[in-house]
Amino acid sequence: MEGLVSNWSSTARTLPKSYIFPPEKRPGQLNFPLDKTIPVIDLSNYDHDPTSTIEQILKAGQEYGIFQVINHGVSKELVDETMKVFEEFHAMPAKDKARECSKDPNKISCRLYTSSENFPTEELHYWRDALVHPCHPLDEHMQFWPQNPIRYREIVGKYTVEVRKLANKILELIIQGLGLSPGYFSGELSENPVVLVNHYPPCPEPSLTLGLAKHSDPSLITILLQGNVPGLQVSKDGQWVVVEPLPHAFIVNIGYILQVISNGKLKGVEHRVVTNSSVPRTTASLFIYPSNDSLIKPAATLADASNNPPLYRAFQYKDFRSYYVSNRADAKKVHEFVDRYNS
Ligand code: OGA
Ligand code: NI
Repeated sequence: MEGLVSNWSSTARTLPKSYIFPPEKRPGQLNFPLDKTIPVIDLSNYDHDPTSTIEQILKAGQEYGIFQVINHGVSKELVDETMKVFEEFHAMPAKDKARECSKDPNKISCRLYTSSENFPTEELHYWRDALVHPCHPLDEHMQFWPQNPIRYREIVGKYTVEVRKLANKILELIIQGLGLSPGYFSGELSENPVVLVNHYPPCPEPSLTLGLAKHSDPSLITILLQGNVPGLQVSKDGQWVVVEPLPHAFIVNIGYILQVISNGKLKGVEHRVVTNSSVPRTTASLFIYPSNDSLIKPAATLADASNNPPLYRAFQYKDFRSYYVSNRADAKKVHEFVDRYNS
């Protein structure tokens, strides 16, 4: 495992060369505008007005590719406890983190890395450390998760159960909005949820580097807990804008897989992470991924040859995923892959 950024960042006065992005990719400025238009959807309205909640979600997925949800059913206490445990994990000494993440000999159920999984071969590094582990079925993976901080498994176990329920609820509303058959995304299309705990330490020169380069997620949907420190930006009308941190809210990102299945009715948005010089930032993504062998294609009812031709081809998830990783999430390349037979 390569040296974690958090292990040396506090004494760095300047950035090592390998963290300095070329001018066109740097954030440059630091005062990006706060976006106030990304929809914030109150899920507690569903009970008395399901139709309007479904409409809001569909509209947000069509027009923005990202939205926030509040009153979502995951308790504030659990959100706070989970964030605390994630922050405590990343605050541990590097050797303890390495030890806590080396319990799985197959390196599937828990991994710790810095920058990206391509660290050894990438030209430029990102200013982040990452802890990643699948979370379903729990009893298969949890035995390999960290046991320190002491309540990690208990709290993160509960959290993943609750956030998966939330993801399923949102997917069920999307199903209704798109007119797909109930349970369309159950089973293999959502079988492989994974937790990614990002940690971006304070950075001496935030205008020169990124915590994460621009990308859209390779998931069905992603449920992100961004906490209280801003840093996530989305591309809107050719400009980067800041997604406002809202206490206890979750950010929902539409992933490429939902874009394909919905035949472009819902679309993901490119986003990136900038760093700051004053406070550490910890976030947690719960990616809803299909199983590797599942076949991804536009839903038959949303793609009929005459009125609504399929915009995307059929492919196996694992082929998409390895293409996405080897092309470093480049949106143009990803579109070539999914669109290939229609372009
Ligand atoms: C991601 C992501 C945003 C953040 O993990 O895919 O976009 O704010 N994270 O950490
Ligand atoms: Ni993302």
